[in-house]
Amino acid sequence: MQSSELRHEIFRNRSTRPWVIAHRGASGLAPENTLTAFVLAVEQGADGIECDLRLTRDGHIVVCHDASLQRTTNGHGLIHEHTLAELRLLDAGYAFTTDRGATYPFRGLGLRIPTFEEVLAALPSHVVVNAEIKSAPWDPADRQRGQVIAERVVALVRQRPDLRTRLLVSSFDSAVLDTVRRLDPELAVALCTLPLAPLPEQLRSTLDRGYDAFHPMDVGFDEHGAAVIATAHQAGVPVNVWTVDVPDRAVELVVLGVDGIITDYPEATRRALERAVGATAARPVTP
Ligand code: G3P
Ligand code: MG
Repeated sequence: MQSSELRHEIFRNRSTRPWVIAHRGASGLAPENTLTAFVLAVEQGADGIECDLRLTRDGHIVVCHDASLQRTTNGHGLIHEHTLAELRLLDAGYAFTTDRGATYPFRGLGLRIPTFEEVLAALPSHVVVNAEIKSAPWDPADRQRGQVIAERVVALVRQRPDLRTRLLVSSFDSAVLDTVRRLDPELAVALCTLPLAPLPEQLRSTLDRGYDAFHPMDVGFDEHGAAVIATAHQAGVPVNVWTVDVPDRAVELVVLGVDGIITDYPEATRRALERAVGATAARPVTP
């Protein structure tokens, strides 16, 4: 098989379409990017989880969205200024609230910032792992860390070939994806985009660079969605949209032809899709 065919195995070997991918785990119901949120997502029937990768001061890959610790933990400062041992002391459930701060139900329960390997170990093998490598293109030092993460992820896959058909590496930084592609042409990559350009132009970057999937924000689909999805599918490229937390909106996008919904609420999304469009029918998008 050619490299591109091997990369597309991740999209072929799944029984359900559309994919429901739990954004930072089931992060609407549990603290984002924690093992608790990822395990809950699996229990709720998510096809995959999305997680954000960052580098610690001593070179470990940890799963945390922000560069800084303030928003989600009881710590302060930047992830890359802390060692893994220091990060392990923090409470990753500290800030989670669903009632605007009246209660913090996960505080003090021992939730930690996990390493990427701990997340992989916590997930059953049927679950797709969308690992988003954080790398700010405007910050050379952060970009360098993104490159290191890309190299480490490729090395990890070399040790664990079982990951090959369930790991989808994504990033907003095309330099990260190009490094992954250069080091391992058989690993599937997806470009995340912000609505800084019209949706068709965002897709063009994905197609021109030969990436395997397109991960745009849910902006511009009402105007351009049908055409963009048709163009992507002609090229065998699935379209997975983030972050869709209103189930009725997920249904609209799937009716339009979107392949994956990246959501903080996997169970509510799955239920709405099953009710509306029978989400368990196989619908391969690769040629
Ligand atoms: O990967 C999709 C989505 O996670 C990108 O945005 O900021 O939530 O990481 P963000
Ligand atoms: Mg992300």
